[in-house]
Amino acid sequence: MSCEVLRTENLYKSFSIGDNTVSAVRDVSLFVGKNEVVGLVGESGCGKSTLARLITRLDFPDRGEIILCGENISRASGRELRRACKNIKMIFQEPRSSFDPRLTLGASIRETLKMTEKMTAKEYRDKSVDLLRQVGLDESYGHMKPTDISGGECQRAAIARALAGAPKLLICDEATSALDVSIQAQILELLRMVQKETGMSVLFISHDLALVSSFCARTYVMNNGKIVEQGETRRIINEPQNDYTKALIASVLPI
Ligand SMILES: Nc1ncnc2c1ncn2[C@@H]1O[C@H](COP(=O)(O)OP(=O)(O)O)[C@@H](O)[C@H]1O
Ligand SMILES: [Mg+2]
Repeated sequence: MSCEVLRTENLYKSFSIGDNTVSAVRDVSLFVGKNEVVGLVGESGCGKSTLARLITRLDFPDRGEIILCGENISRASGRELRRACKNIKMIFQEPRSSFDPRLTLGASIRETLKMTEKMTAKEYRDKSVDLLRQVGLDESYGHMKPTDISGGECQRAAIARALAGAPKLLICDEATSALDVSIQAQILELLRMVQKETGMSVLFISHDLALVSSFCARTYVMNNGKIVEQGETRRIINEPQNDYTKALIASVLPI
């Protein structure tokens, strides 16, 4: 049995804009193990979100392979892709925009539950309340809409909805970047807790090396579409090998 939840092999993705071509992802090979929290760090525009979109197959890779829970999904489509992608959930920088504004948070969570498990209506209701509690929101939040609550609360609800899908891998793409620093710390703590409780793997994407280093035992550093350094986060911080990593560290960590 494999200890691997995700592996990418030599992934490439470029975009053509007029006469210009942007190579957003270049030859990216990475893996995320079971129960592992892995960081992906690099400055804005380096290709992190494009890579996340390839992994979740929202975008189609130009070249390369994506192996999710042992299944090659690089060229999967239709029902096969939908089934495989149930293993991944993603949370984003702007939680509000990922919710349907017409639905209550409870209803949104139940929609995901319905795609995951067969239960009675009462069980769906009870489970959505349990999930809200798990992320520190009481039952009353189930009746609220995304616009009724704060950004931090909305990110909690987004985590609850992700958990409703019982994912093997959670991808957090700048999930705390829009939040105040104190709320950021709370959301990170919550992610840490639910990761421990569920054993799901996390790919934590951020431009903020300090944040990544406080959360992830292993990290990939991305620059200009490429992975330029990888390894144990502590080693990367203490003994960076790559010049870009050195510059990234110098820009965020006081000497
Ligand atoms: N759909 C797209 N069309 C054209 N260019 C894109 C598209 N998505 C991303 N890019 C370009 O790819 C590069 C990487 O973007 P992105 O993956 O969003 O970086 P990051 O998430 O690290 O900030 C940028 O130059 C961006 O402008
Ligand atoms: Mg991004």
